[in-house]
Order: sequence, then C-alpha cells, then structure tokens
Amino acid sequence: MSRRNKITIVGAGNVGATTAHWAVQKHLGDVVLVDIQDGFPQGKALDLAESSPVMGFDCKLVGSCGYDETADSDVVVITAGVPRRKDPKTGQYTSRDELVEINRKIVAGVTKEIATRSPEAVIICVANPLDAMCHVAFHESGFPKERVIGMAGVLDTARYKYFLSEALGVSVEDIHGMVLGGHGDTMVPLPSHTSVAGIPLTELLPQDKIDAIIQRTRKGGGEIVGLLGYSGYYAPAASSCAMVEAIVRDRKRVLPSACLLSGEYGYNDLYIGVPAVLGKNGVERIIEMKLGPKEKDMLEISANAVRDVVKLLPY
Ligand code: NAI
Ligand code: 2OP
Repeated sequence: MSRRNKITIVGAGNVGATTAHWAVQKHLGDVVLVDIQDGFPQGKALDLAESSPVMGFDCKLVGSCGYDETADSDVVVITAGVPRRKDPKTGQYTSRDELVEINRKIVAGVTKEIATRSPEAVIICVANPLDAMCHVAFHESGFPKERVIGMAGVLDTARYKYFLSEALGVSVEDIHGMVLGGHGDTMVPLPSHTSVAGIPLTELLPQDKIDAIIQRTRKGGGEIVGLLGYSGYYAPAASSCAMVEAIVRDRKRVLPSACLLSGEYGYNDLYIGVPAVLGKNGVERIIEMKLGPKEKDMLEISANAVRDVVKLLPY
C-alpha cells in the first residue's frame, strides 16, 4: 500500500497548529504535532482530526511529546521556540534577535531528535531569529544544505503583495514580486522586480507610496505584535505550508527561502532569503537575480544584520 507524505511539525503553538490546519486542509499528508507541554499537541491533533469528517480530509493527525511517532518524516517544520511578545510594562516588543539565546537551545535539541529519526527529511525552520536558527538546524542536523531551509521570505513577500494589492485595488493574485534578505527590519523588498500582471509596479504607483509600503512590510511582524500583543500566525503558517506543499508535491515552485549560500549573490556560509526552486529534494536550485547597485547595498546591510546574530552562535 502506498504511504502518504509524512509531515512533522514541532511546536504545537500558534504557528505550528495553524500550519497543521492548513496542511491537512490541503491534503498534503499525515501530520505529527510535537510539543513539550503534555496534552497540548495531543489535544490540538485530536481536535483537528475531529474536524476531518466535516472538512473532508483523510490525513491522519497524531500529537506527541516524544519523537518516535515522527520517524521517517518527509518534511519537518520547526516552530518550537519562544515568539515575540509585547512587554505590558514598557509597551516594547521582543526583537527577533533577543530570542536567539533561548531559541537556539530549543532548535538545537529539536533538530537532534529529528535528524536521528528522519535522516532523509527536509527541515523547514520557522523559529526566530529565523536566519540564525537555520544555521543551528544546519549544524545540528548534519544534513546537506539543500535539506535545511528557512521560512521568512514567503511571509514577507505575502505582506508586501497584500499591501500593494490594497493600494492598487487589484487582486493579490496579479501582484508578482519578492522580498529577499534576512527576516528583520533590513529585509529587501524589490520594487524594480515587482509587477502587476506584467506591468512594472513603478508605472502604477508613485515612489512615495512604494516607499511607504516597503517600510510597512519591513515592520510587518511588529505591526501584528503591536495589535495582538503576540506574533501573527495565520500568514506565517500559510507561508510555511506553501513551502511544505512545494516540497511534498515536488512542485518546483520559486519561493523566497532562507538558504545557505555558497558564493551566490557574493555570500558564503550565510543563510539569507533568496529565490529558490523547491521540490522533493528541498532546494533544487538558487536563482541569482540581477540586482541594481541600490538593491545590492540593501542586501549587504541585511546580510550584515544576519551575520551579527550568527556571531552569537557557537559554530
Ligand atoms: P507559540 O508560543 O504559540 O508556540 C511555540 C510552541 O513551541 C509552544 O507550544 C511551546 O510549548 C513549544 N516549544 C517550546 N520549546 C519546545 C521544545 N523544546 N520542543 C517542542 N516544543 C517546544 O509561538 P508561535 O507564535 O507559534 O511562534 C513560534 C516561533 O516561530 C517563534 O520563535 C516565532 O518568533 C517564530 N515565528 C517566525 C516567523 C517567520 O517568519 N519565520 C513568523 C512567525 C513566528
Ligand atoms: C513575523 O514576522 C514575528 O517573525 C514574525 O510575524
């Protein structure tokens, strides 16, 4: 009997559980949810499984506080970690970089458990600070770089496209573009490579409006934290799911993904967001776009911001 794809999601919190929700809704495969809080992944998995007769999916869901159930997963999404929160006293919210010390230990531990049981899996890291956590997963797994990637660019691009569609009064489906670089305030939206059904964005929107959207995109995660008091999860989970789908369905989608660069864009041994062809084997190819001098400068600033966090890691 053929076997369904197996997707493990570690961290059954907001992003993890919502990723499971989108994944089964899209019939992507059986899902194992893992978390450290006893009863939590089991409860989330059971609740979601009980929706299957109504929603019409046959994917199986299992929740666990251990890893044996995750064996031989095709894809593993790591959302385990502490999210950004708003301090009720100061009103300030946690920066992604402040999370590095806590989350690197969590991601390292999770990755070791995963790597021994699913040696052929593709790991999609989601925990923040994203690009640095990809380094942790890469080093701790011992997997080839093609099978350790990070989700951020799909989310940042989704926010960018949504804001543009609102400003232009056109369908989100007709906005094409990409946000590269690290997942932080220095991320690099590319208006010169953005089009509306093939029409250059710069012909449709004045520069000041484009600049305002770029700024809003860069602060997009913080905007949600400011409203909710904790970080967003619908768009992050949908974005994680798009990467899972590209891999398990071998779609060869071109998605901005955090990849370990080996000379591409002039960088080495650094995870940052670049256009990647995603298929069954993870990153099948990195596409090198021609960037203008200003875009190259912005990518350099973003790469340096990632490097500053990576320096804090013991690798
Ligand atoms: P959450 O707090 O709702 O869920 C995190 C879950 O991880 C909790 O249920 C917790 O019990 C679990 N966990 C903690 N340590 C664990 C361990 N050692 N093993 C297994 N599970 C463990 O947080 P949320 O909102 O789901 O965010 C998760 C992470 O994703 C955060 O680091 C957040 O900053 C990041 N994030 C990244 C985005 C991106 O674009 N890359 C977007 C949104 C969130
Ligand atoms: C976001 O961009 C917090 O990184 C997370 O929503």
